Amino acid sequence: MKFQTIIEPFRIKTVEPIRFTTPAERADALRRADYNLFQLRAEDVLIDLLTDSGTGAMSAAQWAGMMQGDESYAGARSFFRFEAAAREVMGFRHIIPTHQGRAAERILFSSACRAGDLVPNNTHFDTTRANLEALGVIALDLRCPEATQPAVPAPFKGNIDVAALDRCLAENPGRVPFAMVTITNNSGGGQPVSLANLRAARAACTRHGVPLILDACRFAENAWFIKQREPGQADRTPFDIARDMFACADGCTMSAKKDGLVNMGGFLALNDEALAARCRNNLILTEGFPTYGGLAGYDLEALAVGLKEVLEEDYLRYRIRSVAYLGDKLTAAGIPIVQPPGGHAIYIDARAMLPHIPAGEFPAWALSLMLYLEGGVRSVEIGSVMFGRQPDGTEKSAPMELVRLAFPRRVYTQSHVDYLAEVLLHVHGLRHRIRGVKLVDAPALLRHFTAKLAPAHGRLVVD
Ligand code: F0G
Repeated sequence: MKFQTIIEPFRIKTVEPIRFTTPAERADALRRADYNLFQLRAEDVLIDLLTDSGTGAMSAAQWAGMMQGDESYAGARSFFRFEAAAREVMGFRHIIPTHQGRAAERILFSSACRAGDLVPNNTHFDTTRANLEALGVIALDLRCPEATQPAVPAPFKGNIDVAALDRCLAENPGRVPFAMVTITNNSGGGQPVSLANLRAARAACTRHGVPLILDACRFAENAWFIKQREPGQADRTPFDIARDMFACADGCTMSAKKDGLVNMGGFLALNDEALAARCRNNLILTEGFPTYGGLAGYDLEALAVGLKEVLEEDYLRYRIRSVAYLGDKLTAAGIPIVQPPGGHAIYIDARAMLPHIPAGEFPAWALSLMLYLEGGVRSVEIGSVMFGRQPDGTEKSAPMELVRLAFPRRVYTQSHVDYLAEVLLHVHGLRHRIRGVKLVDAPALLRHFTAKLAPAHGRLVVD
């Protein structure tokens, strides 16, 4: 390549203004939100990196496809177009649409699991864990050893610990309805899983007669990392690599709000006919008829196009490179992040950046509040507010205290990223003055969404 600058592989046809606020307005907004960024009004946020889920920009081809939406209740043309696209990319026999990923999880789990069962995963995402625990199922995280060492770079830190998986399956015959692997591993830093690891997990599952299900939200980003990093994969297309990844599994849950490039949608894909039939019956109860599953015909059209666009090499190169670009700037400034940068997000290691804040005062949550206060940037804590409460009601600090800066797809440009780097460097300069927070009120499950917090020492930042 002759030129180094990575440019967005699109030009902009529609713009949406973003609103500038003053530090005083943001301090006020934080108080009104009970120091919980989920409770902010989005218009009070300048750069919104809360999530990459459902926040992307659709292409002209997707909008055009939406005009072709067939809104028939049963047997709509749009369903068959979506089904064909999902089958082509993933290869599974039964494709069951749902309104988003967690609905696919709930339907699969309630159709296949019983209380007392155990479901291993590289790392369960919060909704996956909560949906299992709500059924009395134990959600087991089997990360590879390098996954919990934020500063240590490794090409496939999303890998599942296959030896631990094998042990778990051997020690719990009849108790594991299926194993899962999350690609990429969101809670573990957006890190990819290698084809070799997927194949080894598949072999372990086959040995014990247990199905393997992928949590496939970010499958295209995972395929790109495999192309970049796994020996022998460089000359293959992301599509071919994705097919190989899915060939290791018996099905997947999918939040299409990520690598489906849509604002709403998801699905469950399975090879097992009997299980698929149970899931469809379950689907009708709450989501809708199996050819729409809670989605409009036009949603299915947009998704059929998105599942193909997301595998385009120019898109994936730009996507992964712009996240790495921010990662490089932060690393050069000495800001501790999970290394290497993830596919959809940068994860700041708040425990390393704010060692003076004790675990019980939620350093990552405090840091996320500071990024908003100083720069109008919204991020999300992936630490002990999100994961600290145990099913038995006790508290245990999470393995890592991270702040995730998740990039919406095709939304922000290089100058937005430069601004982000400036804000982060500024907050890093203030780090010794940042103080912790305390929980004031919180529900038992998924508490980070609605918890009320407050500065533990009167103020977030001291003089
Ligand atoms: N699995 C993973 C790995 C996820 O990251 C998410 C969502 C889900 C399942 C659930 O999908 O939101 O469509 O119901 N993650 C979003 C995030 C919310 O911000 O990381 P959903």
